[in-house]
Amino acid sequence: MNRTLQSELQEIRSLGLLRSTRLIKGSQRANVSCNGRDVLMLCSNNYLGLADHPALSAASIEAIERYGTSSGASRLVSGTMELHEELERAVALFKKSEAALIFNSGYAANTGIISALVGRGDVVFSDRLNHASIIDGIMLSGARLVRYPHGDYTQLGKLMEMHAKGRSLIVTDGVFSMDGDIAPLAEIAELKRRHAALLMVDDAHGSGVLGENGRGSAESFGVGDDVDILMGTFGKAFGSFGAYAAISAELRELLLNRARSFIFSTSLPPSVLAASLAAIELVQSNEGEKLRDKLFSNSSFFRKSLIEAGFIVPTGSTQIVPLIIGSAAVAMQFSEALFSEGYFAQGIRPPTVPAGTSRLRFTLMATHSQADLAAAVEGICRVGSTLGVL
Ligand SMILES: Cc1ncc(COP(=O)(O)O)c(C=O)c1O
Repeated sequence: MNRTLQSELQEIRSLGLLRSTRLIKGSQRANVSCNGRDVLMLCSNNYLGLADHPALSAASIEAIERYGTSSGASRLVSGTMELHEELERAVALFKKSEAALIFNSGYAANTGIISALVGRGDVVFSDRLNHASIIDGIMLSGARLVRYPHGDYTQLGKLMEMHAKGRSLIVTDGVFSMDGDIAPLAEIAELKRRHAALLMVDDAHGSGVLGENGRGSAESFGVGDDVDILMGTFGKAFGSFGAYAAISAELRELLLNRARSFIFSTSLPPSVLAASLAAIELVQSNEGEKLRDKLFSNSSFFRKSLIEAGFIVPTGSTQIVPLIIGSAAVAMQFSEALFSEGYFAQGIRPPTVPAGTSRLRFTLMATHSQADLAAAVEGICRVGSTLGVL
């Protein structure tokens, strides 16, 4: 490797910011073997446990037998298969939108959508804690980025008074990925109307989990009609992979013609599309309802137990429970020590979260047992006391 790159890598190492992967053996369950150790999984986005659900696996296998393993091309060449259109119809029905467009991942959706909708001379108002893929989409677009303080719609309103000239887009996570809180969508929708702005909500962590039948955060606030672009992913609660934008038919046509991540990439394969279709059905079924109930009782139990033990846990109600530590080094030590106790929770540090707010990000699943969670809280307390965090 070239010398300057070597020294840049060395700098990452010396700052204690080097990242590496951990190997999970078998499927994504609550109890897994990770790097050769049996641990309780506390950092997966497989919220409803659908990643190894028999209905999704069966649908994938059947799709492979019927349609093969690849779409062979991008959507606008010859890569649009029956399942792409079927999934888009299913998403539109589920989200009560006029149309939908499938993207290859949430990252591809955010970068592609934002850079297709705005450009030089336009303004994007973005929550300070929005996901990195949103920020990258804004950078790629060349539009002016105006960040507003996290969840602060009063400030957003003031910033819009000052800067909302020409075309403007407000973009926010529905459920914030590292904090687990929910965006104030009713107030944001009101600002969108007042300034005739476009509104985009990234519901990667809300879809399948919040709202009636798991329709997501916008539906839970009753502001679905104000959201011009409702983006969501299939890789989290839906146990599959890929993403979508629930939109008007006109916006679909525009994105199909302009979103470069959609245009210049081989489309999703049949197995993935079939798993997503099965997941949309399951999420809306009685089984989906039961899984959501279990997820919520697990999340409330876990959050309450950590708060009662004396940890700094922001108030919230979702399945994402951050335990704020501050120092990146201590957050990583905490994560390592917990791992030795048999609990896997990733330490999250800059640049994923702002400096000084490094944390453990716990994510709950419907497949956790309450006994396992209670034992995990005890383990977290032991490590917290040893490291002086408690
Ligand atoms: C809020 C949010 N948006 C987008 C993404 C990207 O989605 P994907 O993993 O499908 O690329 C993620 C996480 O992965 C996310 O947390």
